[in-house]
Amino acid sequence: MSTADYKTMTTAQIREDFLSFFESKGCKLYPSSSLVPDDPSLLLTNAGMNQFKEYYQGIKTMAEIGACSCQKCLRTNDIDNIGDATHLSFFEMLGNFSFGGYSKADAIAWAYDFITNPDHLGLPPERLYMTVFEDDDEAIELWHEQGVPYDHISRLGADDNFWAAGPTGPCGPCSEIYFDQGEEFGCGKPTCGPGCDDCNRFLEFWNLVFTQYDRQEDGSMPELPHRNIDTGMGLERIAAIMQHKSTNYDGDLLQSLIGVGVRLSGHAYGDNPSADRSLRIVADHARAVTFMIGDGILPSNEGRGYVLRRLLRRAVYHGRLLGIEGAFLSEYIGEVVRLMGDTYPEIQENRALIEGIVHAEEERFISTLDAGEKNLLDELHALEAGAQLSGEVAFRLHDTYGFPIDLTREICATSGHEVDMDAFNREMEAQRERARANANRDAWGAANDVWVALSDSYPATEFCGYDTNELDGAKVLALVSDSQVVDGASVGEEVSVVLDRTPFYAEMGGQVGDTGVLEGIGGAFKIEVRDTKLHAGGIVAHEGVVVQGTVGPGALCVAAIDVHRRELIRRNHTATHLLDAALKRVLGEHISQAGSLVAPDRLRFDFTHFEAVTAAELAEIEKLVNEEIFAAEPIVTQIMGIEEAKASGAVALFGEKYGDVVRVVSTGESDMPFSRELCGGTHAHSTAELGLFKIISESSVGSNARRIEAVTSEGALAYISERLTLLDEVATRLKCRPEDAPARVDALHDQARTAEKKLHEALTGANSGGIEEALASAIKLADYDCVVVRRDGLDAKGLREVWDAIRDKATGPIACVLATKTPEGKVALLAAADNKAVDAGFAAGKLIKELAGYVGGRGGGRPNMAQAGGANAQGIDEALAAARSALTQDC
Ligand code: ALA
Repeated sequence: MSTADYKTMTTAQIREDFLSFFESKGCKLYPSSSLVPDDPSLLLTNAGMNQFKEYYQGIKTMAEIGACSCQKCLRTNDIDNIGDATHLSFFEMLGNFSFGGYSKADAIAWAYDFITNPDHLGLPPERLYMTVFEDDDEAIELWHEQGVPYDHISRLGADDNFWAAGPTGPCGPCSEIYFDQGEEFGCGKPTCGPGCDDCNRFLEFWNLVFTQYDRQEDGSMPELPHRNIDTGMGLERIAAIMQHKSTNYDGDLLQSLIGVGVRLSGHAYGDNPSADRSLRIVADHARAVTFMIGDGILPSNEGRGYVLRRLLRRAVYHGRLLGIEGAFLSEYIGEVVRLMGDTYPEIQENRALIEGIVHAEEERFISTLDAGEKNLLDELHALEAGAQLSGEVAFRLHDTYGFPIDLTREICATSGHEVDMDAFNREMEAQRERARANANRDAWGAANDVWVALSDSYPATEFCGYDTNELDGAKVLALVSDSQVVDGASVGEEVSVVLDRTPFYAEMGGQVGDTGVLEGIGGAFKIEVRDTKLHAGGIVAHEGVVVQGTVGPGALCVAAIDVHRRELIRRNHTATHLLDAALKRVLGEHISQAGSLVAPDRLRFDFTHFEAVTAAELAEIEKLVNEEIFAAEPIVTQIMGIEEAKASGAVALFGEKYGDVVRVVSTGESDMPFSRELCGGTHAHSTAELGLFKIISESSVGSNARRIEAVTSEGALAYISERLTLLDEVATRLKCRPEDAPARVDALHDQARTAEKKLHEALTGANSGGIEEALASAIKLADYDCVVVRRDGLDAKGLREVWDAIRDKATGPIACVLATKTPEGKVALLAAADNKAVDAGFAAGKLIKELAGYVGGRGGGRPNMAQAGGANAQGIDEALAAARSALTQDC
């Protein structure tokens, strides 16, 4: 069959055509959701339907008849297969969905129309095959009604035709659409057909799931409230088909990415199977890494951060196999952004950050690789041909060098070895056990449970603290003590109080919890609140101690925060926003908040940046923030839709999820304020309240982040006063005015240096006739003179200087034996000689060994220079006497 019997379309054309086709059917177009799913049962988004889970379950309803999307997905269940011609980790999934809206019959009719209609894909019907779940006669008839002959429809079992996103949740039977590439791709077996395991003739490209069950933890599968549709068409797969290519990696997008590797490595694609494999792996993994970081995932050793790290490391390793030197992934990131940044603006917006994180991680892994690979190769050299590498060694590489096990396996495989995976897994399990044993699970488990249980009984606590500091008539709903719900608490007892409403801000987004008092109406009780925490279901715990009376559920109270403390916190919170904005202006748009602490006395702001911030940059940042403070801009908070907020330029926290309605905090009324952020915290009313902003430190936190600590208002005043007091003290001690202190300190340093030099000269005897005197006292031997003297107050280095001076001033062959009692009361001995004296028989090393005994020490050296140290200063004179007699006897 000719390959030219249908048209050609680019990936972008297919994506757009699919979405507009389903929009025209009444489906609402949804943007792709993040790769970080909202669903705790799922590590990474793996299908278009993930973001609609609650619609399937009937928890949410949609006004439209259904939805459609092009979803970013990531699947790593068969990471080892990535590198073959078909598997991908990251991919795009086109999907249309119905939650009791349009029917199975519609889904099948529309799918058939889309793939065969010449206005859309226009694939030849004779090349299309459908599979259905084994007993799904209805689906067979629905396909047949579209004109699909019965011999193009087959039944398959649950392995192929039953689909579930995860171990629990919506699932159901499915029907898959296959494209026949032609006989030449077939295995020729009589059993060959769609789903054939032996060849690639039939390519599955679209899965239509009839989602009707909700699988539970216990395996039971109750029916969902309505019959649903979930479909998924792999965009890379259909792009290859529409470009008359047979594998995913031959489509336009992935070919462009493979082109980057070809350019960097000089390997042509298609020349050599193992280089092709590496080219595919790097193309796939680099794209996955770009999107993962774009969605806020950072490299780490657990969960999705670990998946990211593994993909990144594997890409680096395969780049190295291709012969690409150094860090290279930014080249790929640039290409991914060029190809896909219009469709997925998050990678465009976060590009600098993605590049920075990848680069830092890459550099670190390259040095790990160097160390680990050397170690592994040493181990492999010691192995007999075909022998297994021990699991313990593989584990050590993993544990000590962070050397990924799949790389260990890959390197082993290149020299014909396998890893003893059973032993490796045992080691891993033992490590997990140790980690589990260390975590104090009981404490956490118990503590968590009580709040989860309370959140079933009570709604989220209502926060009224944006504009109220004191609430009259708050009702005590529950009390928790020692992780248990209790009926009451009396004087002296520690207790966590749950109220219906509260002005207390619970620790969140870096802002510390409020403190204050809860006073029973009519003086029934008083509780000093020392902290406020947020628990499951939005329940706020006022943690404190009862200082008067007895409290029980149902009581009413006045809830009053410590207003002054909160004022300080408000100012520091506003300061973090100003700081964030100033950092972006001075250091660049890659700056993203990585953590913060907003306390009454100071603020701490962690942000992504890959080198130290210079003093000049810090000064500029501080200046920008202070200008904003001096401009006395009002702080404006608005509640608006998330899309509107983002369109207004509001800064969102990297990787944070927001609801549909958000709070936006801006400095000033202008359209382009200095700072505008999505934030739930409490803020100053005007920037002027901050008074002054002062940075007190800049440091590194981890590999990709820096930390700035700063103070404002009272904190800034306290900091500056303390510093000025110190300066005054220094000036008083220097007996000068503060402004003269630096020059005075310099002068004192100079004086001290000169004095030290003079003292040293005096001790060594240099410039004061001491050397000449020593030379005059030298023992005259047949072939050379030898100076034997004691010069206290020096150290070993000082003795060497004395020797240098003696040698310089000596007129004939010369040697010496010098001794000193050091300022610490220890002994240093030195014997040294010029070449002629050595030739004449002076042996410094030998001599010093003999002398060392007199001073309770040890020593040695070469014939021309030897030293000894000792603790017994009493023995110095004896040692020198022994030297004299040894020298004169030798003559
Ligand atoms: N959710 C279905 C799949 O991923 C469509 O194949």
